[in-house]
Amino acid sequence: MWIDYSNCLKFVSEKEIAHGQKNAKTQLEHLLSGKGKGNDFLGWITLPEDSALLTARINKTAERLRSQAAISVVVGIGGSYLGSKAVIEALSDPFAKAQHQVLFAGHHLSESYHSKLISLLEGKAFNIIVISKSGTTTEPALAFRLLKDLLTENLGKNNISSHIVAITDSSRGALREMADREGYESYIIPDNIGGRYSVLTPVGLLPVATAGFNINSLIEGAAEIAAVTRDNNNPLTNPALSYAALRNILLQKGYSVEMLVNYEPGLHYLAEWWKQLFGESEGKDGKGIFPASASLTTDLHSLGQYIQDGQRFIFETVLSVNNTDEKVLIPFDQADTDKLNYIAGKSLSEVNKKAEEGTIMAHVDGGVPVIRIELRELKEHAIGELMYFFEISCAVSGYVLGVNPFDQPGVEAYKTNMFRLLGKEGY
Ligand code: PA5
Repeated sequence: MWIDYSNCLKFVSEKEIAHGQKNAKTQLEHLLSGKGKGNDFLGWITLPEDSALLTARINKTAERLRSQAAISVVVGIGGSYLGSKAVIEALSDPFAKAQHQVLFAGHHLSESYHSKLISLLEGKAFNIIVISKSGTTTEPALAFRLLKDLLTENLGKNNISSHIVAITDSSRGALREMADREGYESYIIPDNIGGRYSVLTPVGLLPVATAGFNINSLIEGAAEIAAVTRDNNNPLTNPALSYAALRNILLQKGYSVEMLVNYEPGLHYLAEWWKQLFGESEGKDGKGIFPASASLTTDLHSLGQYIQDGQRFIFETVLSVNNTDEKVLIPFDQADTDKLNYIAGKSLSEVNKKAEEGTIMAHVDGGVPVIRIELRELKEHAIGELMYFFEISCAVSGYVLGVNPFDQPGVEAYKTNMFRLLGKEGY
């Protein structure tokens, strides 16, 4: 992957960027030496190496789950669901019937959604991969209770434990207690890794492997970019420092919303994962860039007007994918009523690239600074690179901003009110 910030130079000087990179380098030093805020949550930094030792076991579990049922339901919310959802969506064929279907539950409280899921699973053997670091989060706990009940009805009480895998804390929480008592296979989420930084732990890897994708390649991609982004000797070629520096300079200039845009619909959930990563890491103490996203060219026909012409507080980060395996060529048409013969013979990707280039030019002209992140292709290796790049950039960016990028005190507020309204004891 590669970062291009030439389309920011109308808004930010080279001198400001160099100064920002120097500051980001200092913050990376703090991160790597464990001297920064939240330094008890740095286990994710070495995950590309640490998780490589786990893949054989994870692949074996995934193979077992795939062989014993046609559907696995991943139960989790926030950091316990968005990473695997992002990777699976980015790699999946949207029209093919998957050999093994991976579905999600427990990431909201919709009765309609869960009722339809239950109807689909009625009478069938299925697996549950239940993921919760705390083991006590309401949404996944409720979904797990419902699905476990259904599994018991479908298979009988004595046959369900092999269909459940729990991913949770090593010793605390209700899920750990249930896993140990009822004999589920289980994986540990290390104490020093927060939910939104956990995609390269079993939290992300087991669902991705169960969906049939190559987690070794995902980790190799992460390891490759880790070598570059953890290298503090060459700050000018470290893309994480450039990205962290630019975001903060733009924020100081009043660009308080970052819109992550893609031209590949498969990247929609990657943006959802990115929003959690940056939103929860930076949005605190009255500070932070608001992370938003758009899928183009689709949203050029909705949000496009605002981005081009509305209030000037948005900067854009484009995920630009270089190669797609498929070739769809535009056919020649004798009548040419639609006047498209001027692009006959070109592939859709060529047209999509021109749309991207044209949109960047228009947005820059309209007063939107644009950062471009180039990905070779939409495959496991490149996705692993991108996710690790965002994680390390986010941690450094949070330090530049002056916040603790590893806590999330704000997410508790709604829970207290909900529990009180539901009449939970002690609220
Ligand atoms: O990033 C985070 O820490 C949160 O989004 C959590 O992942 C989310 O709240 C789910 O928590 P848990 O895994 O404890 O159920």
